[in-house]
Amino acid sequence: MAAISFELIKKDPGSLARLGSLTTTHGSIQTPIFMPVGTQATVKAMTPEELVEVGSQIILANTYHLYLRPGHELIARLGGLHRFMHWDRPMLTDSGGFQVFSLGELRKISEEGVNFRSHIDGSRHFISPEVSIAIQEALGADIAMCFDECPPYPAEYSYVQKSLELTTRWAQRCKNAHQRPDQALFGIVQGGMHPELRRESAKQITDIGFDGYALGGLSVGEEKEVMHRMMHECSDILPENSPRYIMGIGAPEDLVEAVNAGFDMFDCVMPTRNARNGALFTSFGRINIKAAVFAEDQSPIDPACSCYVCRNYSRAYLRHLYRSQEILASRLNSWHNLHYFLDLMAQMRAAIGRGEFSSFRKDFYAARSQQL
Ligand code: GUN
Ligand code: ZN
Repeated sequence: MAAISFELIKKDPGSLARLGSLTTTHGSIQTPIFMPVGTQATVKAMTPEELVEVGSQIILANTYHLYLRPGHELIARLGGLHRFMHWDRPMLTDSGGFQVFSLGELRKISEEGVNFRSHIDGSRHFISPEVSIAIQEALGADIAMCFDECPPYPAEYSYVQKSLELTTRWAQRCKNAHQRPDQALFGIVQGGMHPELRRESAKQITDIGFDGYALGGLSVGEEKEVMHRMMHECSDILPENSPRYIMGIGAPEDLVEAVNAGFDMFDCVMPTRNARNGALFTSFGRINIKAAVFAEDQSPIDPACSCYVCRNYSRAYLRHLYRSQEILASRLNSWHNLHYFLDLMAQMRAAIGRGEFSSFRKDFYAARSQQL
């Protein structure tokens, strides 16, 4: 039996948006879905119970970081990532490709794999497709990702073409190496900002055949308009009956555009990272809690939000916590932002269920134009 199954429940009549259900070894998730990022086997500042409370169905962890510290073999000896971090729901691990490529000077790519130096202590390491799969099998997430090369932006057409072909050869090696029957493996489509290269990559990756397909190499510094155009150019190059994942996306408007273009899964550090910097998401746009206008403001972050933070704390208090650099500021801000992202996804799923995604999208933009 396959490690996952994906059921397409409903297609929105006025857009490419779709409602689905993805069943993994640790349970089912409703798509479209946002995956909070738990790079170091923790979604920063949140306990697993709190993640469930804000509506998380699946979370993401990173191969690169957990390989370096505490080590995948240690995690395997302790019963795997789920038990180690006390999360018994679905989980996905990224392959390490993207994180290693972000090291810049510290890495060297060859056909075989990537040599790099640890960002922690400078020690030398090597990750190949086979090594990445071995690490991900030891971690034991429900979904593993192929080891890919994410080309920089901008990049020469010829470089992007060579790079996507390397990513295809690595994808085949990942598939050959992958053995865990209770773990799904997703392929990653690259091709930069060139629609014809995206198509070429999608053909090669889908010919190999995976349990799901991701778009990598977006949100790498391109204009938002370019990113949104790529989403639209790329949705019909991926099989309709497989889950479609856009990696590293995104801001609320990126999620709305991606769902509109027919994608099902997303992840991004934005809700948690911005929270720790005092940037909070609301139905009327983004606010920064440190602003002086909030000094005596007794209203919640977002009067339209039903989260624990908005039910119990004022903007004035949250501003005070933030300015005092209290730990609780990071906790409460992360709580609200994650709730906002996950609730946005729930609202999109409900709108698709009603067959009204287009009017949802219109209302989403209209609400944000009424600034504070
Ligand atoms: N996360 C964001 N973008 C990417 C990508 O292109 N590849 C991988 N593996 N992870 C990502
Ligand atoms: Zn809230």
